[in-house]
Amino acid sequence: MDTNIEDIHRSGLDDLKAARTSKEVQDLTVRYLGRKGILTQFLRNISQLPAEQRPAAGKRANELKGILEQEFKTAIKKFESADSDNLDRIDVSLPGRPLTTGYLHPITQVNDQICDIFSSLGFDIAEGPEVESDYYNFEALNFPKDHPARDMQDTFFVNDDVVLRTHTSPLQIRTMEKQQPPVRIICPGKVYRCDSDLTHTPMFHQVEGLLVDENISFGDLKGVLTTFVHQMFDDQTSLRFRPSFFPFTEPSAEVDILCVMCRGKGCRVCSRTGWLEILGSGMVHPALYENVGYDADRYTGFAFGMGVERIAMLKYGIDDIRKFFENDLRFLEQF
Ligand code: PHE
Repeated sequence: MDTNIEDIHRSGLDDLKAARTSKEVQDLTVRYLGRKGILTQFLRNISQLPAEQRPAAGKRANELKGILEQEFKTAIKKFESADSDNLDRIDVSLPGRPLTTGYLHPITQVNDQICDIFSSLGFDIAEGPEVESDYYNFEALNFPKDHPARDMQDTFFVNDDVVLRTHTSPLQIRTMEKQQPPVRIICPGKVYRCDSDLTHTPMFHQVEGLLVDENISFGDLKGVLTTFVHQMFDDQTSLRFRPSFFPFTEPSAEVDILCVMCRGKGCRVCSRTGWLEILGSGMVHPALYENVGYDADRYTGFAFGMGVERIAMLKYGIDDIRKFFENDLRFLEQF
């Protein structure tokens, strides 16, 4: 018998001191008191001691067994109640982690503002397909085949007769085909042009407007667009109607606003002109009335179309249209 009973006692208590969890103490219980445990082995080997030593060794070993059993049991209890204490120690008064909220994209916000302003003026909202036939995108809008005006718009072709719409003007035809005057609609939507630089992206958003009724004049066009600009920017923003050309309006005008950056003094944003172009417009060309079966002698009307990105860039002083599409939260969160 090489192991001394007092050594077993000492190492049992040392091991217990080092234990940090109830699991570790359970392992110790097996190591010392289990079927093949150190103390169990010792008890089993007592029969090999000289007869005169057996009674004392047996008594001491049994005493020690009782002591270790007791110590281990107490330690396990202590660790287990500390474990459940830890659970209770979750601080329920800590403030919760805030959930980050999303934002409407600036283009969505400006688009909604434009729609709200025209809704308040009595315009209804109409929508139509982004994959459009040549007929609605060009032909019915008075762009004859091979007309040079088709080059104004860098068209994405799906095939010879189908295009990605280059503007929201097809909605003029689609709406007039479906309903008789009075017509008063705006059409927000995505449009596509093969173009990409600081101020152009292959996909962008437009809002089209169309008003047709009896006795509608260019004065009505000016009144509606002036009201719109004053609400969108501020009522100090002057407008300028500059003669232009579109196949589907006659006469046509591009609308400029006084530069929102320099108030007309001339700066980098307005290329020193003091003015910024914001939309195209004009009186509906009588050829369109013929295409949709309206009485061209009875009705007149006006149409306009604007780019949402452009309005947003001017409103917020953004110099690169691509910022709207990069989805950088540091940019988006500013709106
Ligand atoms: N569709 C034209 C464009 O995309 C804008 C426009 C709309 C002009 C309606 C006149 C009338 O540039």
